[in-house]
Order: sequence, then structure tokens, then C-alpha cells
Amino acid sequence: MTSNPFPVVDIHTHMYPPEYVKILENRSDIPLIRRFAGAKDPRYIILPAEAESLDKAGEDGAPLPGRPVTSHYSSLQQKIHFMDTHRIDISVISLANPWLDFVATSEAASTAVSVNEEFESMCASQPGRLYFFATLPLTAPQGELLSAIDFVKGLKHCRGVILGTSGLGKGLDDPELIPVFKALAKNGLTIFLHPHYGLPSEVWGPRATAEYGHVLPLALGFPLETTIAVARMYLAGVFDEVPDLRMLLAHSGGTLPFLAGRIESCIVHDGHLVREGKVGSGRRTVWQVLKEQIYLDAVIYSEVGLKAAIDASGVDRLMFGTDHPFFPPLTSDEQGEWESMTWNKTAVEKALGEGSEGTKAVMGGNAVKILRLSEDA
Ligand code: URA
Ligand code: ZN
Repeated sequence: MTSNPFPVVDIHTHMYPPEYVKILENRSDIPLIRRFAGAKDPRYIILPAEAESLDKAGEDGAPLPGRPVTSHYSSLQQKIHFMDTHRIDISVISLANPWLDFVATSEAASTAVSVNEEFESMCASQPGRLYFFATLPLTAPQGELLSAIDFVKGLKHCRGVILGTSGLGKGLDDPELIPVFKALAKNGLTIFLHPHYGLPSEVWGPRATAEYGHVLPLALGFPLETTIAVARMYLAGVFDEVPDLRMLLAHSGGTLPFLAGRIESCIVHDGHLVREGKVGSGRRTVWQVLKEQIYLDAVIYSEVGLKAAIDASGVDRLMFGTDHPFFPPLTSDEQGEWESMTWNKTAVEKALGEGSEGTKAVMGGNAVKILRLSEDA
């Protein structure tokens, strides 16, 4: 619980707790954790775009695949140090991608219980400072998946669930997901929608792996993945079918604030949709859904993108985040200041004014209200 009238809240901040790290260490396919000769730290290899560099690892001059596993990924003490260094009062932590998307059907439900219990006990050990978005066992049978929602709603510090874009394997416009969305909505659990799969590797061209690092899949693949997933949900009518559903979109909604006008134009000018009667006067526009059912994080690193997000969703629907432990500083001490904090905070201040009501809201006030962080955990 917070009594601070203007707390700083980080709603986009991940952990790979030790239990989850063990699962990845025992795997031979992506996602996995592996040690490489001569490298100090083991490496996390999690993104589909990293498959090629894993195959080439060990060849002369080939770069190490993935990223080093430092204490920032799984140590709670390190999370608190990061929060203290950057004056973050409260963090709403979540398991990082790819969550439990790869876990066998028979093990998914029990794995989710232990991961969620681990998150609950991390939060309980830091009164007033930590809440979490739970993880769902999406590969489990539907009954077990719905029971998992019932289970996490009973965890004191849980304020929603983190979800990727694959759903049950067919994306988030899959009609089979409607009962899941309804259960989440009924229980007041916000979905934190986060990308992982990006776009097919061919899109990045033959030079990407050797020459462009992770820039294209992370800077462009991630946000487009989110944009496409939400556009599909919108076109399938999910937001109308589950009007109480609330979704927080990572990375300021991908490119949704920028492209909403174009999506609208394509809908209104689509002969097929018009003939099917889907463009009638009662239709809620993408703009309305953005203002009524969607929240956006402020992890966009520049006031230009942030202003678009504010215009699209409203200043009362944006929430600050850092994406810790990703994007560590490479040329300064990791225990010191991270640009993920300073760039995103500066973007908020430039867009809304230092010390303004809007800045206070985006930096923490909105999260306290929307995610009920002032309620006794
Ligand atoms: N890279 C990831 O894999 N996940 C994030 O959340 C950010 C960067
Ligand atoms: Zn993230």
C-alpha cells in the first residue's frame, strides 16, 4: 500500500525467477540458457530471431548468441537496488518472455502455480513496493487455464496477467480465447500484452544476423507484433464481446497510436466489411477502444512517440515503465543509472512538463488508480 501522493511506479519490469531459470537451463531448443567456452556468464537465447546465431555459435569469429544472464534477471535484491537507484517507489513485476508458451501441456498448470507463487512471495517480502502480473498456462487444457485465473485472482499482490500474442496457438482473435478474456474481465485482471515473436526472420534480410545485432527485431518486430495482435482482436470484435476487458499494451501500443487513423480508413473503405454490415453507425472506432479499454505504457524513449500515445489514449491511461532488466548500459556501471529510466522519464517531462499534473499521473498516479496499488495488498 502507498500513502505517497506522487509515487513513481514502474509497470513494465521483468524477472526470470530462479525456478524459471532452471527450466531454461534444462532445455536444448530455444528458449534456453547455455554456457559457452570462454564466456563469463551463461547466455539467454530466447528470441526466434536468435536461432541462426545459436546455430553459428562456436564458428570462427561468430558473436555469442543471445544476452548474458546477469543477476539483474533473477535477483530480487538487484531489482530493489535498481528501484532505489532510480527512485522508483513501486514496481509491478512480470515474468519476461516467452513466459510459459513452450511448456508441455501436462506440465503447464503446475509450472504456472509455482511461478506465480514465487512472484507472490517476492512481492510479500517487500511490503508496499512490489505487485505483479501473473503468468498463465496457455498450453494447458481450457479447464486448467480457467482454474489458473481463479488461482491468481486470489493472490494478494496480483493485479493482472502478462500475455504474449500467440494465445492458444492461433493468436488473440481466436474465438476459443473469449472465455479466458471474460474470466479475466470478470475478475478485474488487466492483461499486460507483451510481444516476443516479432516478424518472420526473412523480413530482416540476409545481412541482419551478422551485421545489425538485435536492432530490427526489437525496435520494429516487437512493436509491429503488438500492433497486429490488437488490430486482429479489434477486427474480430473481441473488445465489443468483452466490454470489461482492459489491456495494457507494451511499448506504448507498438505503432497503434500512429496507425489507428489508417486502420480506420481501411475499415471504412473495405467493400467486404461494408457488405457484411460491419461498418454500421453503431460501430465503436479504434479510437474509442483506445480510450475505453486500452492502457499504454510509456516505454517509447522519446517524446515524439509518447505524444502520439497521449493523444490516442489520453494522459490518464499512460503508465511509466523501464523494461528492466533489458537494455542495460553497456559503457557505464550496471549498478548505476540506466538510460531506460532516464530516457523514458525525460520523454514524459518533455511531453507533459516537469512537475506537471500530467507527468505525476504518468509517472505513477495512473498506475496507483488503475492497478489498485493503494489498496491493502
Ligand atoms: N527483449 C526481450 O526479449 N524482452 C523484452 O521485454 C525486452 C527486450
Ligand atoms: Zn518487456
